[in-house]
Amino acid sequence: MTVELLIPTAILIICIGLFIYWLFFATEGVYLGKRTVIRLYDLYANRYDDIKQYDAEWEQNTLGEPILAALQNIPHPLILDVATGTARFASSLIGTGSFNGHIIGLDASLKMLEAAADKIAALPDGASRVTFVHQDAQALPFDDSTFDAVACLEALEFVPNARKVVAEIVRVAKPGALIVLTNRKGWQTLLYPFKTQTTKAFTAYLRGLGLEDVTAILWQMDYDLIWAFKPGLLPTTELASIAASLRCPNQHRALVASGTSLRCTECGATLPIDAHGIIGYELP
Ligand SMILES: C[S@@+](CC[C@H](N)C(=O)[O-])C[C@H]1O[C@@H](n2cnc3c(N)ncnc32)[C@H](O)[C@@H]1O
Ligand SMILES: [Zn+2]
Repeated sequence: MTVELLIPTAILIICIGLFIYWLFFATEGVYLGKRTVIRLYDLYANRYDDIKQYDAEWEQNTLGEPILAALQNIPHPLILDVATGTARFASSLIGTGSFNGHIIGLDASLKMLEAAADKIAALPDGASRVTFVHQDAQALPFDDSTFDAVACLEALEFVPNARKVVAEIVRVAKPGALIVLTNRKGWQTLLYPFKTQTTKAFTAYLRGLGLEDVTAILWQMDYDLIWAFKPGLLPTTELASIAASLRCPNQHRALVASGTSLRCTECGATLPIDAHGIIGYELP
């Protein structure tokens, strides 16, 4: 081969190599479709935690503790973690030692879920606090208004249709529920054309969906950690404390917030809450 051919051939080979690296590794297969993403996660599942090197204390400080504090008035919060991976979110809550609710961890990679289940089973009380579901984040198999909180961390940039996932998250969250998401930022967003948004655009989009109190903090250098609340009759957290201070029509002090109503756990009486947030007792 002549020198004139050698240089362009070498450049071509380097470009093809870089392109393959970008397609399969830098962007984790997202431009090749859902199946490729899932296959790659299946392949890496056993090494995922070694690569990520999550610091348990930092995870508890930035996720577990603040989320627990936000849900403190809900007796047994039911939480969904979409694209749960190896259960870093559930681990951060259980690691606090005072989480008494239940987490459903959903992911499309069975191998990631198997790694997650092994990890959770090794935690004291872990297995009774978490249930895993193997499913696509774009079609959540839950009723509307089911969860007190829904999280989706470091995953929206890897799904075919992030807006579909966010719409599903909002659908299955109860009125007033906490929603915790991440938005990729920093120079790496250059690698993900059409898959990432600026903090301003992403938070504006969430507000456009009707979410309230949308806040973003810089998290792990290359993400925004976003907190938002689904509009509710009353915020779920407030509703729970109000319920605890009211009596049911049969004078029981046992009301709990239940979706769009208050329900007495002793006699089953239900008090509806209308669209104005007015709690309805039947007048004597
Ligand atoms: C970067 S990991 C994040 C995992 C976890 N949330 C965390 O923060 O460690 C992305 C996860 O999204 C999952 N995932 C990718 N596409 C998905 C889809 N369409 N439905 C559900 N999960 C998906 C992958 O299997 C992987 O576990
Ligand atoms: Zn009662």
